Amino acid sequence: NKKNKSIIFLHGFPYDSSMWDAQVELLKENYLCIRYDIRGLGKSPAGDGQFTMDSFTEDLLTIIDELNLDKPIICGLSMGGYITFRALEINQAKFSAVILLDTRTESDNNEGKIKRQNGIAKINKEGVISFVDNFVPTCFWEGTIKNNSELYNTVLNKSRRSNAIGVKGSLIAMLSRTDTAETLKNINIPTLVLCGEFDKLTPPNVMQKIADEIPNSKFFIIKDSGHMTPLEQPNVVNENIKNFLGGIFS
Ligand code: MLT
Repeated sequence: NKKNKSIIFLHGFPYDSSMWDAQVELLKENYLCIRYDIRGLGKSPAGDGQFTMDSFTEDLLTIIDELNLDKPIICGLSMGGYITFRALEINQAKFSAVILLDTRTESDNNEGKIKRQNGIAKINKEGVISFVDNFVPTCFWEGTIKNNSELYNTVLNKSRRSNAIGVKGSLIAMLSRTDTAETLKNINIPTLVLCGEFDKLTPPNVMQKIADEIPNSKFFIIKDSGHMTPLEQPNVVNENIKNFLGGIFS
């Protein structure tokens, strides 16, 4: 069976699993591709909205167990990366390789925590559309917004339909998350680290440091991209993933 290897994708905040359309299209022939909308985002129900990074991580580990996945490759972007780091910290033996895009290990500092709280206040006062209208532009490279307005508007319009409870719950999960930097030196499975050249949220210098600390890692900067590399430069991201996985599993 060609598909004895699986790969599980974790999207960023406040987006959904369609972020990985291009990667799944590339990989589905040879890999069992699993992606889902993180609780409270996309089409996943928000429930009471009381999320933590550990509850998101528990969802991931439960899905892996329920689907009987044998050491999937884990691929996470930004908040998906926060979940990935926490899952590796809890049980690295569950995974065979890691792909990290546009993410960080540090937890929020005071300024960051206040920014999240202001985000929650904004949603309470003005609604979720007002929040995403402010947030989404910071995720993209200006060049993408200008030259690929169709992509940008599709993502923005979809984000505008986000569930306020789910978005607020994710903000609280992010502002209360632990720092996972200590786990980097213990990651002993092959790791690919990718970062958009113009990523303002998790810039290349932050990700370079992550790659430097992970013993068996490769780091590439994705040109002409902001924080949303799989969407802004799908072909380049795919090429990097293909080379990385080809080198490990061929
Ligand atoms: C994300 O893309 O998941 C978020 O930008 C992460 C964050 O706000 O820390």
